[in-house]
Amino acid sequence: MKSFLQEVSVGLSKKNKKLSSKWFYDFHGSILFEKITKLREYYPTRTERKILKNNKIEIAKKIGKNAVLIEPGAGDIKKISIFMSTLDEPKKYIPLDISKDYITKVSKGFKKKFPKVTVIPKGYDFSRDNKLPFKINSSENVTIFFPGSTIGNFEKKDAIKFLRMLKSKFKAKKIIVGADLVKDIPTLISAYDDKKGITAKFNKNILQRINTELGGNINLNSYKHLVIYNKSKKRIEMRLKSTKNNNIKINGSKYLIKKNEEIHTENSHKYSIKSFKKLANEAGWNIGKTWVDEKKLFSVHFLDLA
Ligand code: AVJ
Repeated sequence: MKSFLQEVSVGLSKKNKKLSSKWFYDFHGSILFEKITKLREYYPTRTERKILKNNKIEIAKKIGKNAVLIEPGAGDIKKISIFMSTLDEPKKYIPLDISKDYITKVSKGFKKKFPKVTVIPKGYDFSRDNKLPFKINSSENVTIFFPGSTIGNFEKKDAIKFLRMLKSKFKAKKIIVGADLVKDIPTLISAYDDKKGITAKFNKNILQRINTELGGNINLNSYKHLVIYNKSKKRIEMRLKSTKNNNIKINGSKYLIKKNEEIHTENSHKYSIKSFKKLANEAGWNIGKTWVDEKKLFSVHFLDLA
């Protein structure tokens, strides 16, 4: 199992420098992401909320009785509340997040709102933790809630692996998953390059964490937040571009980040209804239903085992 330090030293030693987007989310980064979700330019969150709200009765019907709901990468857990009260006697809600402090804190509000549902918040890194942090009974109505287009962070092959793993390890019978849709490039770019510069701060939070957690000496002002749309891979890519030659030191090791060199920090894949169906099918899931908003900005899919 690799630590933050190991991943950073490997990532910054590569020819094409790279850090994983999962490192955005410490407590501070989770707050910054929460701010992003409220930005005018960032359409995914409000659009998905609207889709969930408009279809909550049908969603509840699909999920069925006594659900055990698991939400990987749960974040601020605001979306589950949209259809929670329409569900038929839900049993448990298990929000998982890489930031244990954050998920424990936000879960308190949920407990008050839905006292009948057992809430089990856990710190969990699904790209790395092998053992499940909770017990699961394969006879239960295990439903995975994976909204927000978090699946977009994965490369295609990893997305397939993840969807398969939900079946084999989490014993999932159903999945509700959100996927952002391909659309005009200016709309996509501005969603990741907002005027207030919150996304830039969020991107640079990786560098901030290297400084505070790994004793780095990176000057955040020597990097520019860069957003591009990769047309062939149909994904937004975020990078940090060095504005000068930067000699940095992290935990005793030295690295040179050359002028104009870019550190890749995130991929956010965009799907069509068709390409998402293909992905789900390849992972052994059937698409039972797809909901979209009227502008076709975002999609929510109900997956079951054919
Ligand atoms: C949390 C992965 C869905 O890709 O849109 C938002 C993360 N990065 N702005 C996304 C993100 C920059 C977000 N996901």
